[in-house]
Amino acid sequence: MDQSSFTAFATPAEPSKGSQGGSDGTMLQRTADSLDEQKLTPLLAQLGEEARTWRFAVAPNPCVGAAVLSRGKVVAKGFHRVFGGPHAEVEALAKAAKSQVDPDALDLMVVTLEPCSTEGKTGACVQAILKSGIRRVVVGALDPDARHQGAGLEALREAGVEVYLMEGHSELEKLSPHFLHWHAPERLRRPRPWVIAKWAQTRTGQLQPPEDIGEGRWISCDDSRSEVLELRGRVDAIVTGVGTVLADDPRLSVRTPVTCDQPPLRVVLDSFLRTPVDSHLFKPLHEGEAAGQVILLTVAGADAGRWRALEAAGAEIHGLHTEDGDHLSLREVETWLWNRGVRRALLETGPTLLNSFLDRGYVDQVRIYTGDVNGGRGTSMGTWLADASLEDRLDRELGVDAVLEGFVDENRR
Ligand SMILES: NC(=O)c1ccc[n+]([C@@H]2O[C@H](COP(=O)([O-])OP(=O)(O)OC[C@H]3O[C@@H](n4cnc5c(N)ncnc54)[C@H](OP(=O)(O)O)[C@@H]3O)[C@@H](O)[C@H]2O)c1
Repeated sequence: MDQSSFTAFATPAEPSKGSQGGSDGTMLQRTADSLDEQKLTPLLAQLGEEARTWRFAVAPNPCVGAAVLSRGKVVAKGFHRVFGGPHAEVEALAKAAKSQVDPDALDLMVVTLEPCSTEGKTGACVQAILKSGIRRVVVGALDPDARHQGAGLEALREAGVEVYLMEGHSELEKLSPHFLHWHAPERLRRPRPWVIAKWAQTRTGQLQPPEDIGEGRWISCDDSRSEVLELRGRVDAIVTGVGTVLADDPRLSVRTPVTCDQPPLRVVLDSFLRTPVDSHLFKPLHEGEAAGQVILLTVAGADAGRWRALEAAGAEIHGLHTEDGDHLSLREVETWLWNRGVRRALLETGPTLLNSFLDRGYVDQVRIYTGDVNGGRGTSMGTWLADASLEDRLDRELGVDAVLEGFVDENRR
């Protein structure tokens, strides 16, 4: 291993003997004396590889793996497994705390990415590490976000923890390319939520089955539909078009056994307020069912009578501009969602709105269930799929369905 990639982390204010300037202005010192590089390099690689298993579940967050060691032996490993769930460091620390090893003997944490220093959906990992009493931390990559880069390492170092940066050993380009897209300058300049488009299609790529199959509505099998409920519980909003509301009258809820702290907002794109006031969206929730506020995004100046009636039914309504003098501007929709705090959105809609999102490059990730159904009605997604370039693609089977997941190629966004 190149010695220069294994460095202790120090600040410019307190340069240590033999230190060198880091590219971000921090001072990095070569000192590998007290750690066994031979073991750390493969451990970081292994943690990174395992962490990628959960790439679709955590995106836009990065895939992160962590290990707690005692005298050179791994006591516990942890991974970031689900968006909104515990970070890798927290999971590893919790497992280590439950192990037989004396807490005082836990002497090293190895983590593929710089620990976070700010509170997000979960507490800051830096605080969890400090609380654990572990005094040495090895990190495989810096946070790519210039606003936070080095802050986690610095906070640990200031608290007296020895921090070693093994830059280049957990390359984000390989482990979490999606996380780099999420931090691309253009995206930071004009932020919009991470959009996961999920759809069920027949073998011919249609989103509507033949009339006589699945009540004319269901294409995917029970297992797939249960999995979608889980996904709903891990997003901030479910977005659909009024076409789906009119055709299917969905509830867009999360149901037992899936639970979530904050049920996702239910957002309907409805340019002319065609959503019926007696839709299931406005019906009381059943026991074991959770659902967020119903929000109708419409064209500013939509019919005032319908506006009032839908508000009385329980909808929150916001007027936006149109894109082409007709439909809502998706750019404005995206900005609105972001400003409302939506970071991860699930697009569960019919072919019209789905293709609008895809055409404008607003879909980041797809999950496509191809059911055991021939034929179907409406537009086929076959052409899009034939052309699609998906990064980190995963093909799997679930019951009788074929499931395809992937990140939409950056150049096609
Ligand atoms: N298989 C699946 O995964 C799946 C999922 C959901 C639905 N579906 C099926 O899809 C069918 C409904 O599909 P659909 O295509 O009619 O409805 P849709 O895509 O759900 O909704 C389309 C409507 O959204 C509104 N919209 C607002 N802004 C838009 C924009 N910028 N671009 C495009 N549309 C915009 C438009 O109506 P306004 O202009 O009036 O607002 C448009 O007619 C149903 O049969 C349903 O069962 C299948």
